[in-house]
Amino acid sequence: MKIKTFKGSFTPLELHKVRIVQKLNYPTLERRAEALREAGNNMFLLKNDDIFLDMLTDSGVNAMSDNQVSAMLRADDSYAGSATYFRLEKTVLDFFNKDYFLPAHQGRACEHILAKVFVNKGHYSIMNYHFTTTKAHITELGGIVVQFYSKDALKTKSNNPFKGNMDLEKLEDFLSKNRDLTDFVRMEAGTNLIGGQPWSLENLVGVHKICRNYNIPLILDASLLADNLYFIKEREEACKHLSIKQILTRISDLCDIIYFSARKLSFSRGGGIVTSVKEFHEFMKPLVPLYEGFLTYGGMSVREMEAMAVGLEETLDEDIISQGPLFIKYMVESLDKLGVPVVTPAGGLGCHLDVKKFLPDVDSHSYPAEALACALYLISGIRGMERGTLSEQRDENGVEEVSDVELLRLALPRRVFTLSQVKFAVDRIYWLYQHKNLIGGLKWVEEPKVLRFFYGILEPSSNWQELLIEALRKDLGTEE
Ligand code: F0G
Repeated sequence: MKIKTFKGSFTPLELHKVRIVQKLNYPTLERRAEALREAGNNMFLLKNDDIFLDMLTDSGVNAMSDNQVSAMLRADDSYAGSATYFRLEKTVLDFFNKDYFLPAHQGRACEHILAKVFVNKGHYSIMNYHFTTTKAHITELGGIVVQFYSKDALKTKSNNPFKGNMDLEKLEDFLSKNRDLTDFVRMEAGTNLIGGQPWSLENLVGVHKICRNYNIPLILDASLLADNLYFIKEREEACKHLSIKQILTRISDLCDIIYFSARKLSFSRGGGIVTSVKEFHEFMKPLVPLYEGFLTYGGMSVREMEAMAVGLEETLDEDIISQGPLFIKYMVESLDKLGVPVVTPAGGLGCHLDVKKFLPDVDSHSYPAEALACALYLISGIRGMERGTLSEQRDENGVEEVSDVELLRLALPRRVFTLSQVKFAVDRIYWLYQHKNLIGGLKWVEEPKVLRFFYGILEPSSNWQELLIEALRKDLGTEE
């Protein structure tokens, strides 16, 4: 929430209080260095006990509300036909204003089902921007991902409030030539890989019109919709008078299919797909019992489903969905003032460091964003996530795709961190920026073929990590 302070400085103010806490551990520098080696310089392979502040992701780790936790206790358990499922179904359909719901165990499970039904070999899937798991499912089936992002999408420093917009001219032009080879258009809310950047309702209206003209299904990835809803309300003049629910309904009505990761959207776990097009629903439905679980749980536990239902209702509360973007704004603006290169304007999901500017001398093929993640973990116990070349895949000839942007994402799971923890992160990142010349690259020890960033093993290309440790000891002493 934004409340005015006497001195006029911007301080995000929490509209919740903390009633259950988890003790954190601040591992020693020696242990961090050892843990980094054991994890093969891959942030996904670190153990939680070795981490101080886990800023890897907001997926499945947002703090739940008292209402969510209490709903979990009343869950009705049954393989088929639980009361919990029907409560969830009603909530989801009311939320999105749609007729049919299919449950799935998480976002990528929805992507799997959608890809199986809609992707044709050699055909195009058009997007405002891709996401790792979405693209992997499409390319696995021989589909081709085409992106028509806005002209500012890849400019890390920008004032454009809607960098997630789709380029409508390019979309129109492409469809006028390739309509028969296009499977669908996908809009991703709170565009993850370019720094949690939203699109405007106006842009979605434009995309919808073009899709209608060419009779192409419009699919919405609503995983990060809460942030996008907040930004539309905050930044889009024509929507300032609308409630979050009204904006949501306008968005939903423009889309033929909506899917989401409930690990993000409703501060819970799970996922789902909604539509009002009966034919689409009928195509997808048989795949749920085949891959996920019976139609009334789709791989989720009943507790998760209860938490999801309450979490979705809470997503309509602006005080709740503003917490993430406001904390992120605080972190982004603090670093920006210190001259540290960050993605602007502040988006949703987390604070994103612009690694091409942070480490201009580390080549993309040496994975600078993962190297920076390793460096930050080493000097602070903070875990971030690489969003750059390492997160891309090699093509069929083994050639490495270089990412458009190299980002280190420091996710701020909602309601999890305090402002003093964010200030600590800012302080250590600033220190690292002063010592950026010490940071080198990484090289593969073991490189998996698909989604390699999840479990590949790397090592530093030189002794730069030892030099960084020495510098930290020199500046902060042994009791850093
Ligand atoms: N779509 C978007 C936009 C996402 O951000 C994610 C997950 C998914 C789909 C897949 O959902 O994880 O439930 O299977 N993003 C996580 C992240 C992994 O850390 O950003 P999932």
